[in-house]
Amino acid sequence: MSTHSDISFSKKRTWSHDLPISFLMQQGVENPGVLSLAAGLVDQGSLPVESTRQALESLLANPKMGLEALQYGTTAGSVALRTLLLSHISNLEQKPADELGITVDNIIATTGSQQYLSLVGEILLDPGDICLVAAPTYFVFLGVLQGLGARIVSVETDEFGMRMDSLESTLDMLESQGDLAKVKMIYVVSDYENPSGLSLSIDRRQQIVEIARKWSKSQRIFILEDLAYRELCYDGPVTPSIRSFDPSGDNVILTQTFSKSFSPGLRVGFGVAPLEVCAAIRDKKGNDDFGSTNLSQHILTRVLSDHLYYEHVATLRNVYREKRDCMLEAADEYFSDIPGVHWVHPNGGLYVWMTLPESIETGFQSPLFERAVHAEKVMYVPGELFYAVDQGLPLEEQLAPQKNHMRLTFGVQNPEGIREGMQRLSNAVKFLS
Ligand SMILES: Cc1ncc(COP(=O)(O)O)c(C=O)c1O
Repeated sequence: MSTHSDISFSKKRTWSHDLPISFLMQQGVENPGVLSLAAGLVDQGSLPVESTRQALESLLANPKMGLEALQYGTTAGSVALRTLLLSHISNLEQKPADELGITVDNIIATTGSQQYLSLVGEILLDPGDICLVAAPTYFVFLGVLQGLGARIVSVETDEFGMRMDSLESTLDMLESQGDLAKVKMIYVVSDYENPSGLSLSIDRRQQIVEIARKWSKSQRIFILEDLAYRELCYDGPVTPSIRSFDPSGDNVILTQTFSKSFSPGLRVGFGVAPLEVCAAIRDKKGNDDFGSTNLSQHILTRVLSDHLYYEHVATLRNVYREKRDCMLEAADEYFSDIPGVHWVHPNGGLYVWMTLPESIETGFQSPLFERAVHAEKVMYVPGELFYAVDQGLPLEEQLAPQKNHMRLTFGVQNPEGIREGMQRLSNAVKFLS
């Protein structure tokens, strides 16, 4: 017998919403032939099938390792992998691990960096607690924060990333409102931010650590440093992290992933945090899954120790550099004659952030989106999705979401698709200019 009484969902359930990206995916399915400059997937053709096959074969050919890989692992992740991660981090920072104040015990392997971000949110934020973010920033993390009932307070950015004067004045304002004790963290995507492609300048990496310390008055304020795109650098070496400017490691929690630099299908990410934070993350993760996929961790261990990984990253940088240049050339060719249009030249990552005149809105309901998808058959991600609204402040006291940007990705399409997509998009913009 079925009953029809209402389901009494938890409060938390009501704070989580369908991601806007689902709407974009649905648009793609409903409008075949649409060229997507929106999808945040990585380049399909360069996925490391051969390296992964080699790693898997050598893993399963060794009976001891094969059995271990197919057994449950531990909550914090494989010690062999975490030991390799320690030297990986030290290579990227160009500093010995002890100078960085990091040991294997500070590292936890997770199901992508998304799980690490979400776990950090879970262990630090109660409903009403505050996380400061750049405007614009990675919208999936905004969803995580909303899902926890946290307040999201936006900080202004310029071409060097989050503005430190704006960060200080925001903290000052929160203190004067009696809310400083609720500020638990500052979320920063330091390298090639999704969506803006901008990186936090080196000066600011040092300053932000000082600011977090200075304002940690009644409780510690953490910087949650998301380095998802760190290794996808096209114009120079990997940049030192914010974490490298905090050798005590007290104020920075860092997370990184192999999704962009190797394969998102393996879903392996990791984080580095002070030991007390690691213990809290392990306890929460223990309740959630008592360990991420052991087989994926073993594959990555092989890939890293056989140097297949570093060869792959070098190839990827060439592939993406070419595609980035292709998108920027197409932007010059098709958009430079449209008044009021400009865009960021990213030194890495997967995105070009384009700004249109204020009179041209880009949202899902806008005439531009309609024209782009239905007439020109091209899709982008509306910029307004990357701006947070703080439920705790009157709208006039916060940064208003900007409605005239587009996030364009060169990750998925091949160079022909990128050029074609950019031409179609410029037709849509010209139609509305
Ligand atoms: C800025 C940023 N952080 C984190 C992630 C999460 O990636 P993953 O969970 O695959 O490691 C993404 C994915 O697109 C991202 O853009």
